[in-house]
Formats: sequence, structure tokens, C-alpha cells
Amino acid sequence: MKPVKVGICGLGTVGSGTVNVLTNNAQDIARRAGREIIIGQVGARRDNPACDTSGMDVSRDIFAVAKNPEIDIVVELIGGYDVARELVLTAIEHGKHVVTANKALIAVHGDEIFAAAEAKGVSVMYEAGVAGGIPIIKAVREGLAANRINWLAGIINGTGNFILTEMRDKGRDFDDVLKEAQQLGYAEADPTFDVEGIDAAHKLTILSSIAYGIPLQFERCYTEGIGNITPDDVEYAEELGYRIKHLGVSCRSENGIDLRVHPTMIPVARPIATVDGVLNAVMVNGDAVGDTLYVGAGAGAGPTASAVVADVVDLARAIDAPASARVNHLAFNQIDDVSVLP
Ligand code: HSE
Repeated sequence: MKPVKVGICGLGTVGSGTVNVLTNNAQDIARRAGREIIIGQVGARRDNPACDTSGMDVSRDIFAVAKNPEIDIVVELIGGYDVARELVLTAIEHGKHVVTANKALIAVHGDEIFAAAEAKGVSVMYEAGVAGGIPIIKAVREGLAANRINWLAGIINGTGNFILTEMRDKGRDFDDVLKEAQQLGYAEADPTFDVEGIDAAHKLTILSSIAYGIPLQFERCYTEGIGNITPDDVEYAEELGYRIKHLGVSCRSENGIDLRVHPTMIPVARPIATVDGVLNAVMVNGDAVGDTLYVGAGAGAGPTASAVVADVVDLARAIDAPASARVNHLAFNQIDDVSVLP
């Protein structure tokens, strides 16, 4: 079968991780996709020593990748709102499928992007946008497809969890741990997104849209971060038998779906209280299945690339099939009888 050609835009932490995974695991990936997946072009303003692009077609113009007639799937890994939006819309306009790890983009501009994709008969996939390496979108959309989801709750920001864990275990200073999270490639380009809960709110907005079939309504998510948590708070919580975790929570109420992210005191005996460091954990309750729990690395090059490449494999498998045979993105899955509480 004809190989699928991928254009990777962005060579930061996730971009370089994606190049490495596609290169190192090419054989297994081809077996699972049913065809070879080739990096047709890389678009990046600068090289990254964390990955070897020698022998690859590297362009300094990411828009050249989005327009390249040789490319089947554009992987957007530059992050942010504006340039990423333009890049993704350009790729769609040129008939490319899109894979992105950009939760800010999907949470805020998702409706516009999905409408453009629907009009062109292409798919937009964003598994890597929520909970890093945990295949939580797939779990909710496909694995729990039989269920009415009652609630979900989770640690969905790796940077925040890393900071709280290091403060608790080693008594480290907040800013010092944040700096380390940046060096390790966990934090957003603007780390206030991690600290103020905005990143978690983006992820909760997306996951809840899939879980309950509601529109994307990021602006209606109650958002509180960990910026005001002090070492004393962490210590006193422990003395009382609780652990402070930053959670994203959504649940059904009589009036609609409640969306909120904020620090939460969790009894130490609860499994989610023991999820530390950069790990994420998401609990989902469905009416048929009951409680389910998913745990894994929530940020970093390898885990995020794992989710990016899984989306590429899904697309590659069905690339010749009609749009209806590919995985639905959330715009096609909306029901109208619930709304997000203000
Ligand atoms: N900054 C994000 C986090 C990256 O720490 O969770 C993964 O989405």
C-alpha cells in the first residue's frame, strides 16, 4: 500500500519526540497502520539537537508544509492560538488531515476548525491535547461509547502535579520546581497557563465536550490554579490526612454540566491522591461501567509523542476510507439537551 506522508510543524519538545518515535518505531508503527508512515517534511524555525533530521526535508516555513501537495497529514506542534489556527486552517483548506497536541487551539477555536474540516471531508485529531500519554479521549469516545457519562475528575496538568509533589516531598520552593518543569519540557510556553489552571481548563473543556456531547465552552469553566498554594497549606493538609491535588472536574447537575478546575483536598487513602510527579490520572464514571481510572505521564516528549503518533496511525489506517468511516471529532457528536453552567 502507498505510504502515508506526514508533515511535522514544530520541533520543540513534542515535535522532536514525534520525529524520534516515528523514526525509532517505524516498523511497529507500519505494521499497526497497515502501511508505511514517512516524515515527508518538517517545518521548524530552528533545528533541535534532541532529534536528528538529517536526510529529511526541513523547511523554515511551516506554511510550506501545510500547502505541500506531497503531504497527507499535517501535525501541528507549534502551540499557541493564532499562528497555529492559521496553520491548521491552511492545512485543511489544502485537503490535509490534521493531528495536533494543541489543547488551547481546540478548546478555543475547535468549532471553527471542525466546521472547516467537515466541509473539506478531512479529520482533525487531538488525543495528545488531553492528559499527555494517557489515551483518555479514545477511552471516553470509544471505550465508554455505551455509557451515559455521569462525571469525570482528574489531575490533568503534569506541571502542576510535579510542583505540588516536589513541594510536599522535598520542601522545595514553588518557583524553583516550576523552573525545573520548564527545563524538562513539561510546562507550557507561557507557564502561567499551567500555574493558573488555564491549561487544565482547556483540557477539561475538550474532554467534557466528548463525554457529554456538549459544545466547547472554555469561557464557562470555573478556573482556579495552584499559584496561591503555600508549603504550609501542603503540610497542614498532610497533617489532616489529605493531599492537595489540582483537579479538573465535570459532572451532570439538574441544570446542565458543571465544569471546574481548582485545588482540592483528597483523603490520602484515595488512589488519585497517590498519583505524583508529572503523572496524570483521570477517573470517569459511566452508568453501565461504573468507575474507571486511567493513569500515565501527562507531559513530556515521549508520552505526548506517543499520543500524537497514535492519532497518525488511526488516520493512516483509514486514509482511503470515506470521512464517515474515520473517527468522529466532537463537532459531529453534539447533543443539545445540556449546557455548561455559567
Ligand atoms: N503543560 C502541560 C502539562 C503539558 O504540564 O500538563 C501537557 O499538556
